[in-house]
Amino acid sequence: MVVDLMTLDLPIQTFDKISKLVYQVAGINLPPEKIGLVKSRLMKRLRSLNLSTFESYLEYVNHESSGQELTKMIDIITTNKTDFFRELQHFNFMREKIIPGFQKKQPVRIWSAGCSIGAEPYTIAIVLAEAITDLQNYDIKILATDISTEVLKTAKAGEYEAGIMEGMPDNLLKKYFFRKTDHNTIKFQVKDSIRSMIKYANLNLMGEWPMKGPFDLIFCRNVMIYFDKHTRQVLVERFYNLLANEGYFFVGHSESLTTSSHTFKYIQPAVYQK
Ligand SMILES: C[S@@+](CC[C@H](N)C(=O)[O-])C[C@H]1O[C@@H](n2cnc3c(N)ncnc32)[C@H](O)[C@@H]1O
Repeated sequence: MVVDLMTLDLPIQTFDKISKLVYQVAGINLPPEKIGLVKSRLMKRLRSLNLSTFESYLEYVNHESSGQELTKMIDIITTNKTDFFRELQHFNFMREKIIPGFQKKQPVRIWSAGCSIGAEPYTIAIVLAEAITDLQNYDIKILATDISTEVLKTAKAGEYEAGIMEGMPDNLLKKYFFRKTDHNTIKFQVKDSIRSMIKYANLNLMGEWPMKGPFDLIFCRNVMIYFDKHTRQVLVERFYNLLANEGYFFVGHSESLTTSSHTFKYIQPAVYQK
């Protein structure tokens, strides 16, 4: 049977169950106005499983013992929009105010939490490589994590189509990427000198954080916008505890910590210090 998805309805009761599950697993808040978005994102998956109702899909997710379909559903629901050099002020601040304080051989640990396809951690690594000419004498490591296994595949491969490279200045594109053609499509592959600075891992911010820290810089930008106030509050406290004294915390410019009670010092828009 071929399922006619155009006529498929996502009843509010089923949407509520999906929304509850996504919140429990990933902390992502899906208010009723997101029903259209959830429906359109999950449609394709229903089609490939040849399921004719969202309720049967939910049953499938709940009863599939390996948990793989739940992972897939979370992958589909998450919004992974990102860019190289997104929110440039953060990278200017890093270059002007933070990097000059780094000492040779002194460990510097950076965490990109919710790194999507890798544009954020690769930008951080490129900013470091540009600012520090003898980078090999420094002990700097970047941990980049995300809940979505799909985006992590792209991040690890470090290979991008031309469209996503728009934020990358031409000189840096030439310096840190190989240009290649794959089935008539131009692609850019990040060089190993940059890739080797980053370790990628699958991590749900709602779960355990196996890292001991402390981190000198934590970037959690445009991730907590999908969470509710309580979840953000808990997370901000956990980030604070994992930062080194005087460590910096970066959030997206559309976010702010003013709605959570916290002990961070405000430095400039979307930059905080412990
Ligand atoms: C909009 S992207 C932001 C990417 C990057 N930080 C930036 O600002 O360009 C949000 C990312 O957060 C991830 N995310 C959402 N919920 C998460 C969770 N509970 N744990 C870890 N990552 C999560 C998504 O998979 C997505 O890749």
